[in-house]
Amino acid sequence: MTTSDLIKQLFLSFHEKDNEAFFQAAREYIEHEKRKKHTMVAKELEKALYAANGSSERGKRFKNTLPIPRDTEKGFPLLEIQNFDISLDSLLISAETKQQLEQIIREFKDADVFATYNLINKRKILLCGKPGTGKTFSARIISSVLQIPLVYVRFDSIISSYLGETASNLRKVFDFVESGMWITLFDEFDIIGKNRDDNHEHGEIKRVVNNFLQMLDNIKGDSIILAATNHQYMLDPAIWRRFDDIIYYELPDENIRKALFELYLRPIKKDPDINLPKAVNMTHGLSPADIKMITEEAMKLSILDSRSCLRQDDIEKAINKFIRREKVKNNQMGDV
Ligand SMILES: Nc1ncnc2c1ncn2[C@@H]1O[C@H](COP(=O)(O)OP(=O)(O)O)[C@@H](O)[C@H]1O
Ligand SMILES: [Mg+2]
Repeated sequence: MTTSDLIKQLFLSFHEKDNEAFFQAAREYIEHEKRKKHTMVAKELEKALYAANGSSERGKRFKNTLPIPRDTEKGFPLLEIQNFDISLDSLLISAETKQQLEQIIREFKDADVFATYNLINKRKILLCGKPGTGKTFSARIISSVLQIPLVYVRFDSIISSYLGETASNLRKVFDFVESGMWITLFDEFDIIGKNRDDNHEHGEIKRVVNNFLQMLDNIKGDSIILAATNHQYMLDPAIWRRFDDIIYYELPDENIRKALFELYLRPIKKDPDINLPKAVNMTHGLSPADIKMITEEAMKLSILDSRSCLRQDDIEKAINKFIRREKVKNNQMGDV
């Protein structure tokens, strides 16, 4: 088979969810690379192919992975398996927060040693803080660093639309998580906050939350469970107690904002007159995601202007555009 035949085979088997055919085509492709004496490539591919199926005790659990669970009524998938390659260095955050993340990663790696002391690594973690501060990003990083795929669950999509189905959906998600070793993220864990005012739904939501907490309490296996929310102040104390650790994502201070500008403007050549401290001052109160967006806009402005060099006014224009956009969003334009 030619390379393109093999790749086609990979794609087809992916669509047909035919694991065996997928594996066979992947193996053949690796052999193909070996024959071409691309030893390094073959090694990397082997590592990637077997990462999920590794020979370690933990890896073995993957073999019995269940099919992706779906909503019974509407048929949409309840979770997504994602793989990333992001290092912890890409997260610019206070030293304390970073240490907390590092400890979770190290505890996971040392779980076997802990066990001999009857200690259990931190497995249930609540990530909270304003939007765009790196909660979802952190889950991806933990999954990357530990080389364990991320099971991504949009908590509110499972719940809000079909309240009656919720318990069964949750059960399916937990069954899936228990069938393997994953980093699981229940993202947008905000349901309780959002619906608090709505008395009609409140009772039902409370039941859902209790249901979730019960499943969280009784979960089997060694997977790490993360839940991320922008509305931590609305969560019940009963929820807080269930987590082994709570990580709070602060808005970036001046130093971190400066580092964010430097990181995200790295791809482009800069005018020597650029005044980053001014940009840093102008972006007080903005999140890392906001700053990323601003830097992308600034780079686009300079590229559209056919300049090879980013100027201060590109950055300031982008900041002002962003601030205007936020005002529109928050209905602060002054019109009635
Ligand atoms: N602390 C951070 N350091 C560097 N980049 C960040 C940080 N926080 C967010 N970003 C960037 O912004 C994007 C969106 O952030 P995200 O993690 O989705 O925010 P949220 O806290 O709302 O989940 C990330 O994918 C990343 O590119
Ligand atoms: Mg998020």
